[in-house]
Amino acid sequence: MITTVTLNPMLDKTVYVDTIQHGKVHRASRMEMVVGGKGVNVSRQLTRLGMKTTATGFLGGEVGTLIEKLLDAEGIACDFVRVASMTREGVTYREKNGVGTAVFEPSGPITSHEAELLLERVSLMMSRSDWIVCSGSSPSPETDNTFAAIVKLTAERSVKTVLDSYDRVCLNASQHRPTIIKMNKGEYERTFGGKLRDAKDYDAACEPFLRRGTTLCVITDGPGDVYAATNAKRWMVTPPVISLVNATGSGDSMVAGMLYAFTRGWDPKRALTFGVAAGSCNAQVWAVANSSLEEIIQVEAQVLLRNLK
Ligand SMILES: Nc1ncnc2c1ncn2[C@@H]1O[C@H](COP(=O)(O)OP(=O)(O)OP(=O)(O)O)[C@@H](O)[C@H]1O
Ligand SMILES: [Mg+2]
Repeated sequence: MITTVTLNPMLDKTVYVDTIQHGKVHRASRMEMVVGGKGVNVSRQLTRLGMKTTATGFLGGEVGTLIEKLLDAEGIACDFVRVASMTREGVTYREKNGVGTAVFEPSGPITSHEAELLLERVSLMMSRSDWIVCSGSSPSPETDNTFAAIVKLTAERSVKTVLDSYDRVCLNASQHRPTIIKMNKGEYERTFGGKLRDAKDYDAACEPFLRRGTTLCVITDGPGDVYAATNAKRWMVTPPVISLVNATGSGDSMVAGMLYAFTRGWDPKRALTFGVAAGSCNAQVWAVANSSLEEIIQVEAQVLLRNLK
């Protein structure tokens, strides 16, 4: 089973309008709601690929209840900790020409006690998990150490982890030997400092994680080359050229693709090409983290992987 942890989920609404006119009232032709949040996206893509997964994290208020209903309707198993603050909503106004303008509400506070409850919940879920995926941002200072505590616990219990995050919550957790670290280039630069310009910079970026015991370090860059490193190998993976619709959740789809591959016993090279294909597949459509196995395999044929070492 793959458990995903989302500290900061969101009810993601897309409202369809003709054209946005600043300061005017608009009548929408349609509204769609989907559960957003990085770990939830990973669980959605895994579910679509027929994998066993449970999404956890924090949910609060009526919005939290609605999110549980929506996940249930999608067939995505979940086991969230209820918190006092209402889960946030985000609205994307999508115009006829395909342009989207988004407004996300601020995250509600999470108390130290609620953070402790989540750690207890994840600790229980660990006994039936092969992987724990810690994805996304921290909603409040009280949760800045939650991923660190989870990763530390997994290392002690030999459960594998993926850390896909940024800022302080990522900085803290990266010290505790997550099995896989996945970031995009911008997230790495703002979290750890420095600029990633060439292979030497990427090598230097991955080296401290690998030295501490992380087995695979992956840094993506949207349509740009993906850099991946283990202690013994370095790879550059070039995503296919696609016609871009919505790249939201491409990194999450990639994480799901890599875990699908590792669960099947595929080697890291295949996990990378399949993961990149899952990311690119996601970027081709408006729906988030919901590509079929056939679609991903088709795109994988256009993914190029080169050995750097
Ligand atoms: N415009 C694009 N064209 C082709 N592939 C893309 C594009 N955008 C994303 N991808 C694919 O998805 C992978 C992950 O994308 P990206 O670097 O945007 O992740 P991310 O920023 O972590 O995304 P998110 O956090 O929204 O899930 C890329 O390595 C690539 O394979
Ligand atoms: Mg990401």
